[in-house]
Amino acid sequence: MRIGSSTIKFITVLMGLLKILDANELNSEMTMPFIQNESLRHCLNLGNALEAPTEGDWGIVLKAEHFQLIKKAGFTAVRVPIRWSSHASENVPYQINISFLDRINWVVNQAIENELAIVINMHHYQDLFSDPQAHRNRYLCLWNQISTYFQDAPNTVLFELLNEPNGKLTSNLWNDLLTECIEIVRKTNPDRTLIVGPANWNHISAELDKLVLPDHNIILTVHYYDPFHFTHQGAEWVNGSDKWIGTSWSNETRQTQKIESDFLRVSNWAQEKKVPVFVGEFGAYNKANLQDRILWTNYVRQQAEKFNFSWAYWEFGAGFGVYDRETKKWRMSLLEALIPKP
Ligand code: BGC
Repeated sequence: MRIGSSTIKFITVLMGLLKILDANELNSEMTMPFIQNESLRHCLNLGNALEAPTEGDWGIVLKAEHFQLIKKAGFTAVRVPIRWSSHASENVPYQINISFLDRINWVVNQAIENELAIVINMHHYQDLFSDPQAHRNRYLCLWNQISTYFQDAPNTVLFELLNEPNGKLTSNLWNDLLTECIEIVRKTNPDRTLIVGPANWNHISAELDKLVLPDHNIILTVHYYDPFHFTHQGAEWVNGSDKWIGTSWSNETRQTQKIESDFLRVSNWAQEKKVPVFVGEFGAYNKANLQDRILWTNYVRQQAEKFNFSWAYWEFGAGFGVYDRETKKWRMSLLEALIPKP
């Protein structure tokens, strides 16, 4: 029998699993998120499209050809940030606009047709962060509708419950809200793998220790943009970031050790809780020097893989873009930092 590369990959994943899990804990409920996380291993964020107030406002409208290109470049999955809160009524039952749901369904089907796993999330729900009590019920009703609509989708469609909880949505409030949300989603999607990250912007901070995961079919997500003054120099949406322009990054020990120790901390946390890890966003903005961005991207990606984390680069074709929409070409050096040539 000829053993193909996918068989070898599967065996490697199983070996990794056995390292993480005690053999007698290898039941399907616990292994499922590890298997699902494998499908996210090389993921790309389709940022600035559906999390803009209206798709196109920030310059990107998703097209069928994008999914084909992404598949061909070697990615295994896409993560789609979605601003549901701008497409639903403000009053009970907080009905999501049906044409918006149909648009997301088109996106999901594009991923499925191109054999890409897909993460659909809830992005930029700012009102929930500034007034969690007032928006609690609306948030839950949105997920009730989304999870009901996609209940028959294949298991390569994953739900990420909330991008970067922050502001007044503290760890305690977030733990309560996500428990309630999972109860609702589980009514229609008992077996779907869910993605959840800690408060304080999904950052690898002390809030990670406060996160409580209510069931076993969950992947932990964290975002990685450190050092922030390097990755967000000149970012128009970050006050004062102009002053950071010129901040460099090199793979000298002092810089690399920080990334390694951050990831080690996450890995220890995840091993103790027996959950797989998805670095759901990482990237450096185009105001930073390209050579440094390539080095940083390559290093973070390699560290993620070393710890068996899946990852999603932020993002496809805007300010962090690995793809240049004007020339319709991949930025090859950045692409190869993510997916090295065999
Ligand atoms: C935000 C984007 C931002 C990116 C990097 C994402 O979570 O939604 O607007 O560009 O992080 O800061």
